Amino acid sequence: MNRGKYTIIITGGAGFIGSHLVRRFVRMYPDYRIINLDSLTYAGNLANLTDVASAPNYHFVKGNICDFALVQKVFADFKVDAVIHLAAESHVDRSITDPFTFAQTNVMGTLCLLHAAKEFWNGREEDHLFYHVSTDEVYGSLADSGFFTENTPYDPHSPYSASKASSDHFVRAYRDTYALPVVLSNCSNNYGPFQFPEKLIPLFINNIKHGKPLPVYGNGQNVRDWLYVEDHAQAIDLIFHKGKRGDTYNIGGCNEWKNIDLIRLLIEITDRQLGREAGCSEGLISYVADRAGHDLRYAIDASKLKSALGWKPSCCFEEGVERTVRWYLENEEWLRQVTSGAYQEYYMKMYGDK
Ligand code: NAD
Ligand code: DAU
Repeated sequence: MNRGKYTIIITGGAGFIGSHLVRRFVRMYPDYRIINLDSLTYAGNLANLTDVASAPNYHFVKGNICDFALVQKVFADFKVDAVIHLAAESHVDRSITDPFTFAQTNVMGTLCLLHAAKEFWNGREEDHLFYHVSTDEVYGSLADSGFFTENTPYDPHSPYSASKASSDHFVRAYRDTYALPVVLSNCSNNYGPFQFPEKLIPLFINNIKHGKPLPVYGNGQNVRDWLYVEDHAQAIDLIFHKGKRGDTYNIGGCNEWKNIDLIRLLIEITDRQLGREAGCSEGLISYVADRAGHDLRYAIDASKLKSALGWKPSCCFEEGVERTVRWYLENEEWLRQVTSGAYQEYYMKMYGDK
């Protein structure tokens, strides 16, 4: 998109990555009008956005992306120029117990947005864009070597990744069938402030802090490629403004960690920041039954994004984890709020009474 006075819907803007993206766009582009469309599920939290909530170029709309009439109305009321679509059910473990919700939000919700965009932009596609934010999990699982490129065939294994893969296919189908202007990106694991403590890093920081067991799935040898969330937001910004219409870009940290090594790093940093004796939380490591369909390894080849658009991650991992641990330890009230109520029920079901 060339820079102009755009009105952009960011879906899922009250979630983890969405809130970082909303903050970035609201602050960096005062001429843009940012509409955060979010239904505020358990993962959506307006407390993630208190610092930009009263900005004149920011508007919050509470609404479900599966509600087609509502999505049509948002396009019409705000005369929407572009969409950056992040709203999704995002946790693999929840998709194993509740696959229907994942199909509904991730597939049908994406379809509602695509169709509303197609209708509203009909015949005026040039200066519009539908940006679909997706995941590396659509590519499946790697053995010890190799990387996911943009041409790796899709091979999803969890209901979450199957639903994201399906949504990616719908986006490309709207590009090919209706000439909808789209761009897609598939990113590796994000970490940083405001991530819901069901995901590995915030869950484990919180458990280390409270001396609770650290549930390592299987043998802890699974590998993930970690990227600081603000580097993902920066990549989305770059692709939104400079990415080639119709293309896909992989985003990754070139930063692979075996889960067990990452967990030891979290223990070391969290204990140190809490002023505890080194290694005193090592005993909390507790190997539990493996996740069903657990992908062994994800690793992104982000060379297309680097060479075509000049992107590179700015945050080194050790520094990013230090910063992240400090944030969770300093933001006790945020953590207390999101771990009360329904979270306790989820935790009991998932990990038992530990
Ligand atoms: P998240 O779970 O933290 O946030 C999801 C947001 O979407 C929440 O604010 C929630 O309220 C909202 N939402 C859910 N269902 C909705 C609905 N039906 N209507 C409107 N809003 C709804 O997710 P996240 O980790 O920030 O991920 C954001 C996007 O990025 C997702 O599409 C995810 O697949 C993708 N992604 C995430 C990662 C990661 O590591 N977290 C990596 C790559 C891609
Ligand atoms: O790769 C991108 C994906 O990364 C995103 O699309 C997803 O939305 C996001 O949730 C994330 O998926 P993962 O399944 O990789 O993330 P999670 O934090 O759930 O798990 C990371 C690894 O840690 C994985 O191998 C499973 C393991 N794990 C996780 C939890 C929650 C454990 O060993 N114990 C746990 O309690």
